[in-house]
Amino acid sequence: MVRTVYVNGEYLPETEGKISIFDRGFLFADGVYEVSAVINGRLVDYTAHMERLGRSLNELRMAWPCSREQLDQMHAELIKRNGLTEGIIYMQVTRGAADRTFNFPKGDVKPTLIAFTQAMSLVSNPNAVTGIKVVTTPDLRWARRDIKTVMLLAPALGKQEAYEKGAQEAWMVEHGFVTEGTSSNAYIVKDGKVITRHLSNEILAGCTRRALMWLAKEEGVEIVERKFTVEEALAADEAFLTSASQFVMPIVEIDGHRIGGGQPGPVVRKLRELFLKEASA
Ligand code: PDD
Repeated sequence: MVRTVYVNGEYLPETEGKISIFDRGFLFADGVYEVSAVINGRLVDYTAHMERLGRSLNELRMAWPCSREQLDQMHAELIKRNGLTEGIIYMQVTRGAADRTFNFPKGDVKPTLIAFTQAMSLVSNPNAVTGIKVVTTPDLRWARRDIKTVMLLAPALGKQEAYEKGAQEAWMVEHGFVTEGTSSNAYIVKDGKVITRHLSNEILAGCTRRALMWLAKEEGVEIVERKFTVEEALAADEAFLTSASQFVMPIVEIDGHRIGGGQPGPVVRKLRELFLKEASA
């Protein structure tokens, strides 16, 4: 099926969606993005994604490409035109196309806005039943990981390393502590308590993380926000990750060591169930 994509105000067949070779997203990774899940044709945690987009744009002194209402309309229109019931919407804003200079381009350069859908099975993802494997790898990223930029080479290398080792995600490590996954936040469970790294410039503030914190509080599951080492993770009762496209995903192996007997544990199973109930409501 040829999808309908969005490019700077137009809905086009995916084969016709094009941007300039001078786009600063392409030349400098001078752009930000969001990935929102869709279940039953409805967006999940959408307000949180738009709030984070606003923060990312602000941190990079980048203009909004259009009004928030127009962005809402764009998301709704892409779901409708592509008949998307389950999957994700990817959207990206860059500082626009201009002659190549490292400093911001002068004059009235219009931001570039593109978006597209990807149909995916999110709720009945078979990985959630078996759990996934992760490997650890050094965190090679820059110092502003709180901004959701399109500068994703280090995460792409990390994810490739994971796949080559038969795993599905890589946990990035700095000074012995796990920062986060290449495209997800990282958690361990010890003695019934969930442990996840506190928010700072060192990790992305996940929208799924935010929703999970709220749900866990409602259900009386304690979440401790602090950094944890790889050794602690290997000795954990359970491990899991969160992201817009994986929701709450159990991890059963880290660097070849089985976690929790190699089965998704009770805490992660409960949290996934709670998240799905809330997201599909
Ligand atoms: N990635 N940390 C990193 C580095 C991420 O790239 C992501 C999301 C997350 C989780 O954030 P959220 O819960 O808001 O999805 C954490 C998206 C899914 C991606 O790049 O495809």
